[in-house]
Amino acid sequence: MGEESRRLSATELLGQPITLPCGLTLPNRLVKCPMQETLATPPLYDPPIDKFRNLYKQWANANYGLIITGQVQIDIRYLSIKGDVVCHEDSMKEPHFSKWKEWAQLAQAAGTPCIVQLAHPGRMSPAGAGNRPADMAAICPSSVSVKLGEGWLNKKALGTILGTPREATLEDIDYAVAAWVRGARLAKEAGFAGCQLHGAHGFLLSQFLSPHTNRRTDEYGGSPEKRLTLLKRLVKEIREICPRPYCLSVKLNSADYMGAGCGLSTDEGLEQVRWLVECGDIDFVEISGGNAENKTSKLHNSFGAKTMDKAPKMSESTRIREAYFTEFAERVQELNSSVPIQLSGGFRSRTGMADAIESGVCSLIGLGRSVVLQPDLPTAVLLNPSLPDDQAFAQSHVVKGQWFANMIPVKVVGSGLAIQFFYHNMRRMGHGLKSDPDMSIPSMVFKDILETFRSGLLQTVERILQSFPWQSKASKID
Ligand SMILES: Cc1cc2nc3c(=O)[nH]c(=O)nc-3n(C[C@H](O)[C@H](O)[C@H](O)COP(=O)(O)O)c2cc1C
Repeated sequence: MGEESRRLSATELLGQPITLPCGLTLPNRLVKCPMQETLATPPLYDPPIDKFRNLYKQWANANYGLIITGQVQIDIRYLSIKGDVVCHEDSMKEPHFSKWKEWAQLAQAAGTPCIVQLAHPGRMSPAGAGNRPADMAAICPSSVSVKLGEGWLNKKALGTILGTPREATLEDIDYAVAAWVRGARLAKEAGFAGCQLHGAHGFLLSQFLSPHTNRRTDEYGGSPEKRLTLLKRLVKEIREICPRPYCLSVKLNSADYMGAGCGLSTDEGLEQVRWLVECGDIDFVEISGGNAENKTSKLHNSFGAKTMDKAPKMSESTRIREAYFTEFAERVQELNSSVPIQLSGGFRSRTGMADAIESGVCSLIGLGRSVVLQPDLPTAVLLNPSLPDDQAFAQSHVVKGQWFANMIPVKVVGSGLAIQFFYHNMRRMGHGLKSDPDMSIPSMVFKDILETFRSGLLQTVERILQSFPWQSKASKID
């Protein structure tokens, strides 16, 4: 067998560079997924540079092919969680703009390109998250409330946290488009390699794509074609001011395509991906959801992938979601797209990832929870040639003390604790500490309560000090 036809090893496959349609070359196939860092602070939620220096340094030096930032909100009134970074009306002015430039520099300090994920949570914006009055409803294409869990307690909790959204007016939509375009421009001016539009996880853009939340009859809804109007408008308007080589990506979520009862059919979802890969303006599409590694290794397994060491027990809803993900990823493959597809969700073994690439299911591997637990995953494990394939695994995503979360009768709180674990660890890293994969959920809750108490106490002391007479004299002199 000649040298050219030699089969690449799993490490070599993952280490192969790839050039996106915009001309940007990624040094390898491993992408750090977007994950909101929850470190920004009110009132303006600028990039918290000191903490980002600690956090992004760990990813910047770990040889990813691409880094995608956590979601940045485009409208300061609607955050998805306390601590989201916001691109606001003054972000392009000083002293705010320097922070964006510094973020772009430190994330790309070792040569890995970084793009900014731009998001609007729509109806997923809880009361109190964002600079809006407590009684101001979130927006959604149509006034459709979120449902999570059955029973009075679940409905009451969800009603209090998310409330009923109001239908977005045409002015709301124009405002959101202008804000998304402003975010794309900010990313460009600040020195990032591009941006990604968050069209997944039931956020505003995916609310427009789904007939469940989009029941409009104007130009933004009423047919599959019209449900794409917002996305098409965003792509067109962003490209007008951010032409290539600026990188433009869109993230979709296969779980949004869960057919029966959930709105968006697989066929319609597939047509949305088809439009994205054929429109000529998109540089890669990220699809998340399900367990990509299970899917690809089950079908192809050319590396004899030893995937999960312990297959976790699946609930019925997870089993159904997995089945949709499998079908969806397969059908996306049939599109034979020349635009690279990134699959994200559940990847843990080097061979499972290499299988996915070799079989043509995707060109890029998205890594989320693993890169919080092991920020140096590429250098230490996946691209480390001295580590044999059968030892090249990311750590398990199973969080200790899950029993504590299961005991909480309110689903929106209990199910949120597992993800809180990853937020908590990113905040640790932001404070210059190491991620702590062994921490249990009860211990994390205890630490968070202590921290809330401590910062609440500090704020109270600050408020009391500010109310002393010398403070008011000082402010008069100012
Ligand atoms: C703590 C946390 C925060 C996340 N934040 C975002 C986000 O801001 N934007 C987004 O598109 N996905 C977000 N995700 C989803 C991830 O990008 C990824 O799609 C998902 O975790 C599946 O990959 P994994 O199995 O490797 O974790 C988040 C996931 C976690 C665990």
